[in-house]
Amino acid sequence: MSEAVTMEKIVALCKRRGFIFQSSEIYGGMASVYDYGHYGTLLKGNVKAEWWRSVLQERDDVVALDAAILMHPRTWEASGHLAGFTDPLVQCLGDCKRRWREDHLREASNRGVVAEGGAEGGEAPLELHCPQCGGELTEPRQFNLMFETHVGPVAEEGSTVYLRPETAQGIFVNFKNVLQFARKRPPFGIAQVGKAFRNEITTQSFIFRTYEFEQMEIEFFVPPAEAEIWHERWMEDRMRWYTDLGLRPDHLQLRPHGADELSHYSSATSDIEYLFPMGWSELEGIANRGDFDLTQHAEHSGEKMDYVDPGTGERYVPHVIEPSAGADRGTLAFMVDAYDEEEVEGRERVVLRLHPRLAPVKAAVLPLVNKDGQPEKARAIYEELRRRMPAEFDTGGSIGKRYRRQDEIGTPWGVTVDHQTMEDDTVTLRDRDSLEQSRISAGELVADLERRLHEPWRSPKLIS
Ligand code: GAP
Repeated sequence: MSEAVTMEKIVALCKRRGFIFQSSEIYGGMASVYDYGHYGTLLKGNVKAEWWRSVLQERDDVVALDAAILMHPRTWEASGHLAGFTDPLVQCLGDCKRRWREDHLREASNRGVVAEGGAEGGEAPLELHCPQCGGELTEPRQFNLMFETHVGPVAEEGSTVYLRPETAQGIFVNFKNVLQFARKRPPFGIAQVGKAFRNEITTQSFIFRTYEFEQMEIEFFVPPAEAEIWHERWMEDRMRWYTDLGLRPDHLQLRPHGADELSHYSSATSDIEYLFPMGWSELEGIANRGDFDLTQHAEHSGEKMDYVDPGTGERYVPHVIEPSAGADRGTLAFMVDAYDEEEVEGRERVVLRLHPRLAPVKAAVLPLVNKDGQPEKARAIYEELRRRMPAEFDTGGSIGKRYRRQDEIGTPWGVTVDHQTMEDDTVTLRDRDSLEQSRISAGELVADLERRLHEPWRSPKLIS
């Protein structure tokens, strides 16, 4: 096992194996917008499916919602995004004229990695300089991150609408609808997966921070007195979700926000951070939003957003605990954590040691040679397998080359059909991680792989 992973290697692997491409590449590409190819779509789809499974199937206090991206513009007045969803923008006055986020520069400067000056004795704020060319920077200006567009054919006549910067508000504005039909009472949650858009000042690190991304959010409504305990529970549950899916615990941490970092709606937030190649960075935020959102929407819409307990008659505005994860960031973290290089029989092998349930393809069926009835037999096995799990059939190139391809896309099991198969109907099962090969009856293959797929799994990087 190695810790050789870099963002460059992940980007190269994604391109080489068709996980993720830069958007509109034929026109020179669009910075910080990405398209997911076949394996990327399957991998991110599995991340989302596992998230849905954990919130809908493994518990019974959360219901699903799929709200529209465009919302009534007053939503964003009520939510505080029009006034407060801003980042401090500074621009280089020197040669390069690059734009930066001032808070990011300040964080980097505190870690000692950005050009800075003045501030003797550490009392006055540090004077920052452009990290690119050392030039002076403008005063910070607050820059709203919401993308604007217009409804109606004539821009001036139509009303301005916004591409949602978080899926959360679609949940809050539907609170009453859901309460009416879901037959749930607090504590209960509404979960949603969907696109969100932010006109980020600085985008960075491949799919880590992009203009368009997918969120997996739960707004969990609780009686006010229970907010803190539910905040604690959700932090534990969400950390466990990542480790159950194979992320190494020593590459994950919970970091509480300082008072100066809290979003306008939050009374307490902790970030789940992952040790990405560029350092510890946010994977998911778990916020205690109090009654901020429901109260704001009640005031702005005139609709009551409170809950009346049918047992006690108590009326209250529920408080909200919000675990808010990024599907793209999660996908990146799973890939980074899984990426491995090792030497096998004198040759370098790149392998994605993904949890089998996340792996885009579960098994590849490979005839050892392309003759003697092996391809036909292999195809028959593949046809049976693919009805139960995503599988591939590959006859192209040497067996070594085919294994390398499957290792790089993270396929946990290789099924080889050889001359012995033709005699006794057994196949060779190759394990991606241990490289162990075992002989198994072709008739038992499907059941065997289904059992393996649902077994608890730990990253082989932890075991070795
Ligand atoms: N509703 C709360 C909310 O949106 P956030 O911390 O701003 O909170 C939640 O975003 C998650 O969404 C982040 O932890 C991250 O995983 C993802 N995310 C946010 N901005 C992103 C961006 N520009 N690109 C990719 N993912 C992003």
